[in-house]
Amino acid sequence: MRPKDRVFKKIVILTGAGISAESGIPTFRDPGGLWEKYRLEDVATPEGFRRQPEMVHAFYNQRRRDLLKVKPNPAHYALARLEREYPGQVLVVTQNVDDLHERAGTKNILHMHGELLKVRCEECGHVFREEGDVSVKTPCPKCGRPGGLRPHVVWFGELPFHLPEIEMALKQADLFVAIGTSGTVYPAAGFVVIARRSGAYCVELNLEPSAVAEYFHEHRYGPASKIVPLFVEELLKNAKDF
Ligand code: APR
Repeated sequence: MRPKDRVFKKIVILTGAGISAESGIPTFRDPGGLWEKYRLEDVATPEGFRRQPEMVHAFYNQRRRDLLKVKPNPAHYALARLEREYPGQVLVVTQNVDDLHERAGTKNILHMHGELLKVRCEECGHVFREEGDVSVKTPCPKCGRPGGLRPHVVWFGELPFHLPEIEMALKQADLFVAIGTSGTVYPAAGFVVIARRSGAYCVELNLEPSAVAEYFHEHRYGPASKIVPLFVEELLKNAKDF
């Protein structure tokens, strides 16, 4: 059933790097993306961190600095408005490690790949907010030991966060929307299959068809800052008219 025919009870929205692209944060696999400049094996795996911790810290220190210079775009604000104004429940599940959803006002959010502005101590498990640079010499603010800090980000080969909660939400969703993701990295790329199997209406909002486009009922292509506010406007209007 298309959005215009109903008010949805539970909306799950999966976002990827494409929703933050127009804020000035590079995506991973578009031309000029991060994985063109860096080998993901070096900067986004536990092995790479063990091999060259200082180089990995430098990579995340730079991404942290860049993040503090940019701001949310209309797509982030539209999703925060949807959460505030829509009569049904809205959950954002993001693959992104930036905090642009939160800065736009989204409250109900799960960061399945962690958060750039958080650091974790491997010695004592303490997770804390960190906007500045981190190095192998930085002591943990809790246990005081140096050398154990790492970005609180999920690397390839590691288990994403919140998967049981996400799976439950996908099974209860009646609307699933994927925004700005290439559909190439699992388990996120498989979320549409779970949602569709549970009866959700599935919509893909992206710049171009993702690798899992075939599993969606509806597709809208264009820049997120344009198509996401329009889609949210339509959902809110349909809910009012209902
Ligand atoms: N508006 C909408 N979509 C866009 C825009 C835009 N302005 N710009 C790019 N896109 C789309 C691209 O077409 C592409 O499909 O966003 C998607 C970005 O794909 P990726 O770079 O692969 O990013 P993502 O899908 O989030 O990657 C998933 O891979 O490397 C890991 O952990 C990393 O979370 C990341 C995961």
